[in-house]
Amino acid sequence: MKFFIDTANLAQIKEAQDLGVLDGVTTNPSLMAKEGITGEANILNHYKAICDIVEDNVSAEVISTDYEGMIKEGEALAALNPKIVVKIPMIKDGIKAIKYFSSKGIRTNCTLIFSAGQALLAAKAGATYVSPFLGRLDDIGADSYGLIEDIRIIFDNYGYETQILAASIRNAVHIVECAKIGADVMTGPLSSILGLLKHPLTDNGLAQFLADHAKAAGK
Ligand code: E4P
Repeated sequence: MKFFIDTANLAQIKEAQDLGVLDGVTTNPSLMAKEGITGEANILNHYKAICDIVEDNVSAEVISTDYEGMIKEGEALAALNPKIVVKIPMIKDGIKAIKYFSSKGIRTNCTLIFSAGQALLAAKAGATYVSPFLGRLDDIGADSYGLIEDIRIIFDNYGYETQILAASIRNAVHIVECAKIGADVMTGPLSSILGLLKHPLTDNGLAQFLADHAKAAGK
């Protein structure tokens, strides 16, 4: 399973990269705004800075919602660095844009996926990734894991190479469940990734080992 971090915060991206398990980064306009990154030049420079930290897979989202605008923006983003994956919203013109980028060999991440039908359409258009949003589905009481399972079945039935990128991850349990049901990638905040480390029996066990060692050493 690939691990992406879902943030535009450079310090957190570096921390995850230093852990040695990071495969990429996803951003969105809200995450960029949270870091105070505004203005076209600053936004493009920030993507370049992210690309300097990680090895590959930096999802950069277009703001336009019309076909021509998405193509123009996506081409500018893709020209920044070969690590860029153009993130396109799940709308009609977005599907056309994904088809265009796919024909040009530019990788795409179709975002805001909330149904298996949307994922199927994006896969047919040639999306590299589809991003079903788990946490937001959980928030409305919908079956987020069921959606991942359905997409997995559909993609396997037809051999689609599009990868399922489980997004809107809120905790470590989300990551483990998505791994069990066959998501190819997960993107979550640093806290969810670090959450995988935690178990009270590990903490207690280590404390006991160190205490026994100190006692035996006469400390
Ligand atoms: C995906 O690429 C999105 O950036 C993200 O996962 C959205 O998550 P949220 O629901 O926590 O905002």
